[in-house]
Amino acid sequence: MTRHLFLLTGAGISAESGLGTFRDAGGIWSRHDLDEVATPEGFARDPALVHGFYNARRENCLGAHPNAAHRALTRLQAGFRGEVTIVTQNVDDLHERAGTAGVIHMHGEVMRALCAACGARWQAPRVMAPADPCPACGRAATRPDVVWFGEVPYHMDRIADRLSRADLFAAIGTSGQVYPAAGFVAEARAAGARTVELNLAPSDVAGAFDEVIVGPATRIVPAWVDRLLA
Ligand code: OAD
Repeated sequence: MTRHLFLLTGAGISAESGLGTFRDAGGIWSRHDLDEVATPEGFARDPALVHGFYNARRENCLGAHPNAAHRALTRLQAGFRGEVTIVTQNVDDLHERAGTAGVIHMHGEVMRALCAACGARWQAPRVMAPADPCPACGRAATRPDVVWFGEVPYHMDRIADRLSRADLFAAIGTSGQVYPAAGFVAEARAAGARTVELNLAPSDVAGAFDEVIVGPATRIVPAWVDRLLA
């Protein structure tokens, strides 16, 4: 019996909502230099460029709507007799807008702002700029509240605890290329969980999973949820 279900979502779950993925053909990292827009060093070199990149991500997010896969996870959370942990690598808020509660955003949230000087957090304005003062300390040290390469993802202790108790681990719409999230399948398996990948096509790490379900998230996630709730 599955008592604790651990779900890890990635850009693929939001792809059919119109938000681009990172590593697919024509993906975000083929159009933007990751070192310039998603590292602390890039931000120090050119904060306006980095704010511009995340302002565009925020704008895309504001124009997007949750899809059937996001909504299926809300249904799963409501109907599953047991614990459901949902960890996302996505900085969008489509899980929340689909009604899912308690999502763990390990890479932060593009709709939130963070003061690099005092650590205050607040709702991000639609457009952020380097000179924006922090509402708490007044310094112009604002940044999007997202995790960049070279930074430690958020909530790792909570995630490790949940992984150690997982009976079923599912990775949905993620390429499994970015650690530490890429290591979760091995951690879950070591804890005794059965593992499932749901992806448009088997990822390069599909061999690490017990089962691979292939197809667009809006089709395969609702069908998989139906099976779990049956
Ligand atoms: P990737 O772009 O690396 O992978 C997206 C995955 O989604 C691929 O495996 C696709 O096959 C799959 N996919 C695409 N369309 C899909 C669809 N309609 N249905 C189901 N699957 C689909 O994105 P992530 O794995 O999320 O981090 O990337 C992980 C991290 O790398 C991101 O959080 C971001 C990025 O750099 C930071 O910025 C720190």
